[in-house]
Amino acid sequence: MDCGRSYGVDEVVYTCSGCGGLLEVRLDIERLSDTVDIGLWRERPLNVWRYRELLPIFDDSKVVSMDEGGTRLLRCRNLAKEMGSENLYIKCEGDNPTGSFKDRGMSIGVSKALELGFKATLCASTGNTAASLAAYSARAGLRCYVLVPAGKIALGKLSQAMMYGAKVLAVKGDFDSALKAAMQICLEERSIYLLNSVNPFRIEGQKTAALEIFDQLGFSPDNIVIPVGNAGNISAYWKGFNELRMLGLTEKLPRMHGVQARGANPLVKAYRSMSWVMEPIEKPETVATAIRIGNPVSWKKALRAVYESRGSMIDVSDEEIIDAQKLAARMEGLFIEPASAASIAGLRRLMEEGVIDKDEVTVCIATGHGLKDPEIVLKICEPPIEVDPDTEALRRMLTV
Ligand code: F0G
Repeated sequence: MDCGRSYGVDEVVYTCSGCGGLLEVRLDIERLSDTVDIGLWRERPLNVWRYRELLPIFDDSKVVSMDEGGTRLLRCRNLAKEMGSENLYIKCEGDNPTGSFKDRGMSIGVSKALELGFKATLCASTGNTAASLAAYSARAGLRCYVLVPAGKIALGKLSQAMMYGAKVLAVKGDFDSALKAAMQICLEERSIYLLNSVNPFRIEGQKTAALEIFDQLGFSPDNIVIPVGNAGNISAYWKGFNELRMLGLTEKLPRMHGVQARGANPLVKAYRSMSWVMEPIEKPETVATAIRIGNPVSWKKALRAVYESRGSMIDVSDEEIIDAQKLAARMEGLFIEPASAASIAGLRRLMEEGVIDKDEVTVCIATGHGLKDPEIVLKICEPPIEVDPDTEALRRMLTV
């Protein structure tokens, strides 16, 4: 993306060997304009593969799918009222097979691993990527290795990776050091396929969430508010909306608003200085472990999405994240993990600061399911009250 060099779609390459920059899959939109038929899309089930023509997998027999995508886009009137908005939707990515948006990208990424003839996959992860890669690799019959920051991943995610049979390596360090090691290994060990979001095929799967939102609403929203960690997903949404526009299906592009946790906010700092420079955060810390990342690898793609869309990057405190997590659960019945709640906390700020207007259509992306992180619940909610099994004792506990 930096120097303009191009590679064949079947070459195993993660970053540009010339300049070290990130890669992006470029589709031949002109040719696709003739084949893409929105009527045909709508005859297919609502899932990632509805948009088959836009997904760069060429051998149908290699497709690894669990019917990912097709997640609910819920109108949230109670939360909207609380935030001062009139048109708020939440995209419930926790509906995916392993409980997070990562499944969209893994369906394409693991299909690509098979297409390229790999026998093993690897990723570094704050948890969800590991759970998803482990599941898709299991289904594909591939060996799977995951590197996670020791002691810093949510219990639900860890247990998923273990149960799906991945070899889980707990790295004594943070996500950023684990990712560096993962990239190095896959460059040297050419028989293992790297499936972090630096792999551009992951982004191709994740972009389908944007296409779905367009499909579900019948138009493009005014704003997308989305949590940012390693910064792949915000770029994926932006790519999806842009492809819709290039295909002539919509004129409008939403503004992209990225939300980071205050203790892991390198992109917010870069945005505030309106520059193309990002200073990594040395010791990132936040209750939202999924986005506890100090050196996001896709930072340039993310800034491009924000600048081009005239959106914004903001940060929210851990308290705001927890408040938003409880609000989503208690006002809408939506149990989402802390990182996902960052988008709702972010929306509140954007409304207060007048960045988003009350009658604009806004979609907050709830990236992962609340059951992923049961330990946080024990810390922030009232514990169960022990009571004797007689009606008198029970009645004393009830206020009607
Ligand atoms: N929300 C959740 C629940 C996540 O798990 C992640 C990233 C993000 C948001 C941020 O997405 O990295 O594309 O900006 N989780 C990665 C992982 C890092 O390893 O599971 P991003």
